[in-house]
Amino acid sequence: MRGLIGKRVLVSGGSSGIGLAAARRFLEEGCRVFVSGLDPTEVERAVNELRPHGDVAGGAFDVSRESDVAALMAAAVRELGAVDVLANNAGIAWREPFLEITPEHFDKMLAVNLRGMFLVGQAVGRHLVARGAAGVIVNMSSTNGIAGEEDYAHYNASKGGVLLLGKTMAVELGRHGIRVNTLCPGYIRTPLNASIAGAMTDGDFETDYIKDRIPLGRAGLAEDVAAAYAFLASDDASFVHGAELVIDGGQLAVM
Ligand SMILES: NC(=O)c1ccc[n+]([C@@H]2O[C@H](COP(=O)([O-])OP(=O)(O)OC[C@H]3O[C@@H](n4cnc5c(N)ncnc54)[C@H](O)[C@@H]3O)[C@@H](O)[C@H]2O)c1
Repeated sequence: MRGLIGKRVLVSGGSSGIGLAAARRFLEEGCRVFVSGLDPTEVERAVNELRPHGDVAGGAFDVSRESDVAALMAAAVRELGAVDVLANNAGIAWREPFLEITPEHFDKMLAVNLRGMFLVGQAVGRHLVARGAAGVIVNMSSTNGIAGEEDYAHYNASKGGVLLLGKTMAVELGRHGIRVNTLCPGYIRTPLNASIAGAMTDGDFETDYIKDRIPLGRAGLAEDVAAAYAFLASDDASFVHGAELVIDGGQLAVM
C-alpha cells in the first residue's frame, strides 16, 4: 500500500486477535508500531512475536481510564517519537440477554468500547493537531454497530456509538488534515469469538453461524481486517473520510 513506509502506528488492543494481525501487517508495510493491551503478559508475548517483523514496542494500559490513556500516549510517543496513525482497536464483548443486563455490565461495555475509543482517539487527535501534522485514525466498530444481534444489546449500543463518534471526529478533524474512518467487521475468528463460542452449549456454534448467516461461507480472519486497517491508513485511501468499511463476507446483505 502506498505511503505507509516509516509511518508510526499505535495499535490499541494490539496484543491479541485483530489488533495483533494489524500490528504485524503494519510492520510488514514498513511502519514502526506500538501495541497496547490490557494484560502485561499478553503484551509482552505479542511484542516478542512481532519483533521478527520489524520495529515494535508495547505496553499495558486500560483504555477506559483517563490516566492510563495519558500514560499510553506518553509511552507511544517516547518509543516512536510521534504517532501518525491510530488503529483504535481495543474492545470487549460478551453475550447476555437484554432483559438480564445489569447497569454495571452495561457501563463496563460502554466504558471500554465507547469511552475508551473516545479517550484514545481524542489523545491522538490532540497530539496530531498540536504537531500540525496530518494523520489517520481508524476506529473499530462492528456489523453490530449497524444492525441488531440478539444477546448483544450493550455491545451493539457501544459499537453504534463508535460509528457516530467516528463520523463526528471526521467532521471536526478533517480540516486539520486528519482522516478518520471506521471498520465494521462481521464474524472474525479471534480469541474473543472463541471464548464467546466456547460459552455456547448448542452444537457447533461457528459452523452453524457461518451456514446460516455468511454468504461467502467462511469465518473472517484477523488478517482480512488487518488488510482493511492498512488500506484506510494508506495513501490509497487519501479521499476516504468519515466512512465505514464493512468486512463481513456478505453477512449484512442477508435479509
Ligand atoms: N472478532 C470479531 O468477530 C469482531 C467483529 C467486529 C468487531 N470486533 C472488534 O475488534 C476489536 C478487537 O477484537 P478481537 O476479536 O481481536 O478481540 P481480542 O479479545 O482478541 O483482542 C482484544 C484486544 O483489546 C484489548 N483490551 C480489552 N480490554 C481492554 C481495556 N480495557 N484496555 C485496553 N485494552 C483492552 C485486549 O488486551 C486485546 O489486545 C474489538 O474492538 C472488537 O469489538 C471484533
